[in-house]
Formats: sequence, C-alpha cells, structure tokens
Amino acid sequence: MRKVIIIGASRGIGRALALEFSLHGYSIGLASRNLPALDALSSEIKTDTFVKQLDVTEPATATTHLNALIDEMDGVDVIVVNSGVLFAEPTWSEIAATIDVNVTGFAAMAEAAMTYFSEKGCGHIVGISSIAGVRGARRSSVYNASKAFEVNYLQGLRHRAAHARVPIHITDIRPGPVRTEMIASLKSMFWIVSPEAAARDIFKAINKKKKCAYVPRRWWPMSWVIKVVPDWLYRRA
Ligand SMILES: NC(=O)c1ccc[n+]([C@@H]2O[C@H](COP(=O)([O-])OP(=O)(O)OC[C@H]3O[C@@H](n4cnc5c(N)ncnc54)[C@H](OP(=O)(O)O)[C@@H]3O)[C@@H](O)[C@H]2O)c1
Repeated sequence: MRKVIIIGASRGIGRALALEFSLHGYSIGLASRNLPALDALSSEIKTDTFVKQLDVTEPATATTHLNALIDEMDGVDVIVVNSGVLFAEPTWSEIAATIDVNVTGFAAMAEAAMTYFSEKGCGHIVGISSIAGVRGARRSSVYNASKAFEVNYLQGLRHRAAHARVPIHITDIRPGPVRTEMIASLKSMFWIVSPEAAARDIFKAINKKKKCAYVPRRWWPMSWVIKVVPDWLYRRA
C-alpha cells in the first residue's frame, strides 16, 4: 500500500486531498495544529490513518514530529506540504505570521522531507504553492511573495535531487482560487473551484509525477497573461 503524509490536512484543500488519496487506497498521515479536526477526518477515512499534531512555525519541533509520523507509518512515499495562511489587508503581525507559516514553515517541512527521501534513496515531495506566486500584487504582497518563495524553493529542491542523482520527484501545485475558509473574505475572485475538484486535479498531477501543475489547468495560459500584462494595467486589478 502506498503512503502519503499531508501537512495541513485539517480543512480545505488538504482535507479534500486526504479523502481523495484514500479513494486511491493510500495509507495517510494527517498533520496540522488542530488535533480534533484531524481525528474527525481520520474517522471518515476508510484506509489506514495516522494523526500527528504539529505547528510548522516551530521548525525544530515540527521536524521532530514529522519524523516521528514517518516512523509510525513505517516510511512514506509522498509528503505534501500544504499548510499555508493568507490574510486580507494584513497588519504587521499578520505579515510576520504569513512569513512564519508560508516561508519558514514551508522550508522547514520541505527540508525535513528532502532529508528523509535522500536517506531513503527515493521519494516525492509536493508543495502547494499558488497562481499568486507568479507575480506580486498590491492587495496581498506578502502572500504572493511567500508563494513565489515556495515556487523557487521547489525548483531548487528538484535541481538538488537531479544533481545528487537521487530519484526524488518534486511537484509544484499552483491552484487558482479554491472555495475554502482561506479566501472566504476576499473579493474579486473568479474561476473558483471546490476543494474536492481541486483535490482530484492535484491527485492526478501527483500521480503523473508532474513537475508543475496549474489547478484547474486553465490557469496555465492565464499565468502567462498575468506575467506579460503591463504593470500600469496589472496594478489596477
Ligand atoms: N484556497 C485557495 O484559493 C488557494 C489557492 C491557491 C493556493 N492555496 C494554498 O493551498 C494551501 C491550502 O489552503 P486552503 O485554502 O485549504 O486553506 P485553509 O482551509 O485555511 O487550510 C490551511 C491548512 O493549513 C494548516 N496550517 C495553517 N497554519 C499552520 C501551522 N502553523 N502549522 C501547521 N499547519 C498549519 C491548517 O491547519 P491547522 O489550522 O489545523 O494548523 C489547514 O489545514 C495553502 O498553502 C494555500 O496557500 C489556496
């Protein structure tokens, strides 16, 4: 039986992805801060589940907990770093919190996964970045910058694995808007999909070991539009 760990599995995309993986027979490690939500999800899943409470903003402790979860599962094949936060019009403390989770926490979990798979000699790391990583935006400067960091970090991990000649697959998932708590308060969203639809597309991309996938796919051509629109026009959006 194949095994996956999802970091940030308590709700939204991570929760839907756990349910999607279970439909495909995976044994699943569920991790995040909200233990009751993870336990409730665990009881819904028919395949084997393992639950671990961890907070990615405490890198050393989170790494210890992730390694303990890997041991409890007797090894895993895929680690998905999905944890993330987005604040509308963030205060300084919310900007700092975004960096703690999406930058420091992401790097800590990606590095822990890379260390584990390097020692194992194979594996698959999946980062859930965002279409927001493509270009900066006035309403969510820190979020877009944090997602650009994740995109760049995943490229670096892919090159590191290739250079070391270790078959570790790295998949960068770039969703457009997905109807979750995270974007509930945001305006001017379009092409919004359900977490379940996003999870189906994400699973397919992981299964195909894609390097990068836009979710849904129509965000791929749109990402090029976002990149080439002149600044004077883009900043009005
Ligand atoms: N929704 C969208 O439109 C959209 C679009 C593009 C990309 N994304 C990305 O997709 C990912 C999931 O987003 P979502 O929409 O599903 O958001 P969500 O519903 O708010 O879920 C966020 C998840 O991250 C976990 N998390 C947050 N802070 C954490 C911490 N300090 N330690 C461990 N886990 C933490 C949460 O678990 P706990 O609270 O239990 O810790 C939760 O499971 C994020 O990386 C987000 O940036 C979302």
